Amino acid sequence: MGNHFLATIALVALASSFAYASDPSPLQDFCVAINDPNDAVFVNGKFCKDPKLATADDFFFPPPNMPGLNIPGNTSNPLGSLVTQVNVEKIPGLNTLGISLARIDFGSYGLNPPHTHPRATEILVVLEGTLYVGFVTSNLNPGNRLFTKVLHAGDVFVFPEGLIHFQFNPENTNAIAFAGLSSQNPGVITIANAVFGSTPPISVDVLTKAFQVDNNVVENLQKQFWWDNNK
Ligand SMILES: *[C@@H]1O[C@H](CO)[C@@H](O)[C@H](O)[C@H]1NC(C)=O
Repeated sequence: MGNHFLATIALVALASSFAYASDPSPLQDFCVAINDPNDAVFVNGKFCKDPKLATADDFFFPPPNMPGLNIPGNTSNPLGSLVTQVNVEKIPGLNTLGISLARIDFGSYGLNPPHTHPRATEILVVLEGTLYVGFVTSNLNPGNRLFTKVLHAGDVFVFPEGLIHFQFNPENTNAIAFAGLSSQNPGVITIANAVFGSTPPISVDVLTKAFQVDNNVVENLQKQFWWDNNK
């Protein structure tokens, strides 16, 4: 019993020394260093509330008079899908805990378009309907392999951290999925929106050479309205 206790203490000490052995992973896109704390907002993501002031509601969703995750998201938009994120912005108690959740609704033939989560692996379960899902590996060894699967209710699929992935409803009925993500703030980079819909736009010279097409194609793409299906 005593030995077990000491071994546990030693393990915890070891784990903490690993945890502090390198810089922490970012919890947001960036955190610009400043010297005047009066201008500071983020400390590794957020400040911590005094634990004495924390309440059960800090760990709860939805807020008063807001729909819970039992209510379908509105998929009447150009993509026919809506991602309802439940991250640290929605549940402050998630701060530093490395986890969050999303409900994804799909109308008929709805698409959650190619995107990445810069800070999270995703594990997705289909509750209703059918989804054609996939991800593409990074460039090397061997490069840009596509992994796909058709999922039905009850099926689970994993999208590894940072890789470009998508989910498409190939049927003329709704589909519902839930996803767990390994970050309090996974982030979303929707590929088309970031490349063709940035503010200000990326130079046409850059995009024509990158995509090996002529100016018209790039200018047409830049004129589209790039809907963000995350809320
Ligand atoms: C869903 O969104 C569409 C388009 O924004 C809107 O016209 C419609 O009223 C919304 N439906 C509901 C139930 O909120």
